[in-house]
Formats: sequence, structure tokens, C-alpha cells
Amino acid sequence: MTISTGAIGVFDSGVGGLSVLQHIRQTLPHERLIYVADSGHVPYGDKSTDYIEQRSHTLTRFLIGQGADAVVIACNTATAAAVASLRSEFSLPIVGMEPAVKPAVAATRSGVVGVLATIGTLESARFAALLERYGEEVEIVTQGCPGLVEQVELGELNSARTLELVKRYTIPLLERGADTLILGCTHYPFLAPLIRDAVGANITLVDTGAAVALQLRRRIQTELPARAHGDGSTRFFTSGDAGQASRIMSALWKSDVVAARLPLEFL
Ligand code: DGL
Repeated sequence: MTISTGAIGVFDSGVGGLSVLQHIRQTLPHERLIYVADSGHVPYGDKSTDYIEQRSHTLTRFLIGQGADAVVIACNTATAAAVASLRSEFSLPIVGMEPAVKPAVAATRSGVVGVLATIGTLESARFAALLERYGEEVEIVTQGCPGLVEQVELGELNSARTLELVKRYTIPLLERGADTLILGCTHYPFLAPLIRDAVGANITLVDTGAAVALQLRRRIQTELPARAHGDGSTRFFTSGDAGQASRIMSALWKSDVVAARLPLEFL
């Protein structure tokens, strides 16, 4: 079978990147999309840079083998750990993402911005560079959120345990005066309704999904102007249990998803 060219490959440590894929689908309705949830290795947030780099390279090779001619790292943690080495190994357009500090700095009225993200993102050199760039204009308070990614992976978007974690991580930021919270991990937009309940209506929540989709569209238009038109299809893969991934992804994607397990050499 010949694989036609022109797909967009998208990956994350798990199902969180679907929050970005939704924006990509809206922005690029005719593209062929291929999504990989690395659920066999989730969470990335407490893994070493080498580990995440190795997984990111493996998943990118898989996506290219499936016909991807552009790749989106729908994960802040993997971008921080691996975007530089991916760009040095692969010559196709690679779009990464980082916590939305710039729009949050523009939005805050209290002058205090809170960042919810994984420990891996918050401890990365890329995040340190972001803080250096914007941290003089406003106060930026960070909060690692161990356990939140796992709740989304379980599909527990509304449970008492998830609400307890959300309160534990957001209340200290509000107490410091934050009026704007950055959802700095792609799993967290799925918790936005719960976060909204916990923090109230006056707090601004910002994430990066829409901006990533626009950036992807720009890069495709300028760097791949002659590519074939896609068929608007979306395929899903997982390195974890296919049945479990299909169930959770169907709930988050709000449509039936049948996720295939990655071939052995990519697990
Ligand atoms: N969705 C990933 C991110 O944006 C979560 C990382 C993890 O698996 O801990 O950072």
C-alpha cells in the first residue's frame, strides 16, 4: 500500500493533546490528521529529558512513516525537553508549544500571573527563558500539578479527587494575587470547567491550543505550499491499552474514536 503524503502528525504523552487537536481540526478542516497518545509512557512530567527525547523521536519516526509531512508536539513538557533535538534530526516543519505567558502578561490587571504546568515544564531551560523575557513586567507565580494529568487520563474530569487537586493547586496562586491562570499543560483545558468552578468567574484562564493551530497553518502555507489536499480524516494511535484509550478519547473528542495500538517497534 502506498501512503499518500500530506498528513499532519500530532503527539502528546497521552490524551491531553486532543485539546490542541480540536483547534487544529477547526482551523484546518480538510487536513488528514494522525494523533498519537503515548499512554504507555504517561506522564512525561516526572520523566528525564533523555527519556522524553527518546520517546519524541520514536513517535516522530512513526508519524513520518504514516505520511506526516509536518508534526505538532501537542505537549508543553515534550516541547521543553525535545523540540530542539527533533528539529536537528528531522527536516520537516515541527510546531511546538509553551505556556501562554505572553497573552497572560497582556491580560492581567492585578499584575500577578499564575502558571499551572508539569514539573518537567517548570524546571526546563525553555521555561526559564520565558520567565526571563516576561518576568520583569509582572509577577509570575508557578505551580507544579502532580496527579492532574493522571486524572484526565482516567477520564475523571469532574470527580471529588480531581476537584480536590484543582483546589490544592489553584488556591495558593489566588492567594498570591493572581487574576490570570495559564493552563500550561495540554491536559488541563479538559479540566477548565472544574478549574472555573474552583477559582470563580473573575479569573482569566489562558491556554495555547488556538495559537498552535494558527502557527501550524502559517507554517504549512509558507513551507509546504505544494502539498496535496487532505481528506479531512483523523486517525488515532496509542502506545497504551487500545480499548481504554478508545473509551477515554471518545469522551474527550465527543465522537467515536477507535485507537489502534502502535506497532511493537514504537512502543
Ligand atoms: N500534556 C502534557 C503537557 O502539555 C502533559 C505532560 C505529562 O504527561 O506529564 O505538558
